[in-house]
Amino acid sequence: MPAPTSDDSALRAIVYSRGSLQLLDQRKLPHETTYLPANDHETCWTLIKEMAVRGAPAIAVSAALSVAVELHNAAAFPTAAAVRDFVVACMNHLYTSRPTAVNLGEACTRLKGTVESAAAVPGATAEHVKEAVIADAEAYQREDLASCLAIGENGAKALCDAVASRNGGMCPTQIRVMTICNTGALATAGHGTALGVVRTLHASGKLAKCVALETRPWLQGARLTAFELAHEGMPRTLIADSAAAFLMARGEVDACVVGADRIAQNGDTANKIGTYALAIAAKRHGVPFFVAAPTTTVDLNIASGKEIEIEERGSEELTHVRGTMVAASNVPTWNPVFDVTPSDLIEGIITDRGVGWNNGGVVDMKSLLSGTTS
Ligand code: MRU
Repeated sequence: MPAPTSDDSALRAIVYSRGSLQLLDQRKLPHETTYLPANDHETCWTLIKEMAVRGAPAIAVSAALSVAVELHNAAAFPTAAAVRDFVVACMNHLYTSRPTAVNLGEACTRLKGTVESAAAVPGATAEHVKEAVIADAEAYQREDLASCLAIGENGAKALCDAVASRNGGMCPTQIRVMTICNTGALATAGHGTALGVVRTLHASGKLAKCVALETRPWLQGARLTAFELAHEGMPRTLIADSAAAFLMARGEVDACVVGADRIAQNGDTANKIGTYALAIAAKRHGVPFFVAAPTTTVDLNIASGKEIEIEERGSEELTHVRGTMVAASNVPTWNPVFDVTPSDLIEGIITDRGVGWNNGGVVDMKSLLSGTTS
């Protein structure tokens, strides 16, 4: 099977070749396109922590590839066990860089499993074990892109079906889609999750417009999503987060689709702060609200969203814009950067393996992943 590809004109957050990893510095967008080397796990840890690279899948892919590059460039290891111990230590450290997105933990667990299995093979050499880890990190990147392309297809159909069901079975020729944060090529290995759905709709002529919320306080929507939409010539409008409900009230939104950082067994979804408010507004106005994410974002170890750790970041993200203080001084702040949307507000969760539909207020992710629902 040929390797999946994304639109070549899409921006690339991650530029990898054997022995080299470069990450697009997303803190500088949209003004500057600068790539930073991330050829070892310590550097990658810092770039993730400081949000040079961000977005749940992109963080996980970057972490895996940084270790692959470090291994490739390292001096010879004396034994297979030495490679194993090194990779396990790297993954344990990378895991601490950001807490909410499950994809990072999933990638770390996967690579640890790979290195442990490879090192346990009788007679395994250090070179064999290195190669197993590097190959798996590279496969992880390819799989993320393939997932995003599948999400795009599944999501475009799901959104059209949901809009049609509210229009007497007819889907308008083109639909108006609202999204929050950045979930595009910049947040993934390519194409995107929620923005991948938008991209696929656009490619098939079904997108009337994408409305991007600016996404305070880090402005992923204004700086990154708007940039991606403009870069690909998709019809677009940028609005303040607080304008979303009013636009829905005017009947100008057909569907919402957002990304996810962690999805619990029951479909409760952690995503960028503001997602919960958007879901409430969508419910109030009868707008179908979808989550789009790869199956690597599903955490079957947790029953509900109550168990999700929510990252809180420094006050400066709230009080300053590009280094300039915009808030009054001496004001205590609270800056949670994710929230949890309860599954009863979600019409469906779009994944690479299909769509989990809301059934009685929950989206049963276990059944979706085991293939027992469509
Ligand atoms: O804090 P960020 O920018 O890393 O936030 C992650 C996100 O972009 C999301 O919340 C997103 O919707 C899921 S990642 C495709």
